[in-house]
Amino acid sequence: MPLLCFASPKGGVGKTTLAANIADALRRQGRRVLVMDFDPQNTLRLHFGVPLTDTGGFMVELPKRPDWRDLVRQTASGVMLLPHGSGDIRGTLGLAHALERDPELLAAPMRSILGDPNLLVVADTPPGASHALNIIAPMASLVCTVLLPDATSAALIPDIESGRFLGAGTMATLFAGRLRVVLNAVDPNARLSRAAAETVARHIGPRLLGAVARDELVAEALAAQRLVLDLAPTSQAAEDLREIARGIEAALPSGPDPFSAGWGAR
Ligand SMILES: Nc1ncnc2c1ncn2[C@@H]1O[C@H](COP(=O)(O)OP(=O)(O)OP(=O)(O)O)[C@@H](O)[C@H]1O
Ligand SMILES: [Mg+2]
Repeated sequence: MPLLCFASPKGGVGKTTLAANIADALRRQGRRVLVMDFDPQNTLRLHFGVPLTDTGGFMVELPKRPDWRDLVRQTASGVMLLPHGSGDIRGTLGLAHALERDPELLAAPMRSILGDPNLLVVADTPPGASHALNIIAPMASLVCTVLLPDATSAALIPDIESGRFLGAGTMATLFAGRLRVVLNAVDPNARLSRAAAETVARHIGPRLLGAVARDELVAEALAAQRLVLDLAPTSQAAEDLREIARGIEAALPSGPDPFSAGWGAR
């Protein structure tokens, strides 16, 4: 039932990497996990060893109102995957228009997916605003924002602290309690990285779930189409991922999620 949504106003910060590897860590902690790709780049599947030739997916099929169960890939990790699917620019724009006209196109299957009380759903979203994020964020138990320890990320802190990047006014207030932050690609030996990480930690406080080290093994795992905990289980990044997954587990509601139920009933 719970939905953990990775989102960030900034691109290239590690959302997809963390969505994939945290989903794997949560599965290893005993959860039944479904990971969903809402980004037209369709790269989440690469972390799970799905062949490049498999270009199908849930979002590209959405206008045909498919049964999402038919599109789930069972991956070697044990995590279930709903890829976005590959499309061209016309398809992407067409889907965006369809979701703007009829948000139920996505909201209805999401309610069905989140109706399974034994399933933890992890969502990866494109950078910045998207119709998909607009539709799924209100259903999320936690929205996890990924930041890099650099000046641009530090400048985004006010928007993230207030939840404004997910909406304004009441919307931001609604999200505030459910926002968490992960710092990614921290290099403890680099002065700027350390200083930026300290600034983010000071401002974000207890909402900071943790930090993941900059580690070549993370990029190498993707190149090998494997997960970090599988390829390099004793690496610093693997330890960081497990620690963050434990923090997420502790922050997730244990019983039925009042947010999902409330919004789902709308
Ligand atoms: N902790 C890390 N250490 C080293 N490399 C990393 C780390 N995290 C991510 N990367 C690398 O950074 C690149 C960008 O990561 P990723 O694709 O996950 O970012 P993203 O936020 O999903 O990007 P986009 O906004 O385009 O969706 C990838 O090549 C990934 O392997
Ligand atoms: Mg991504």
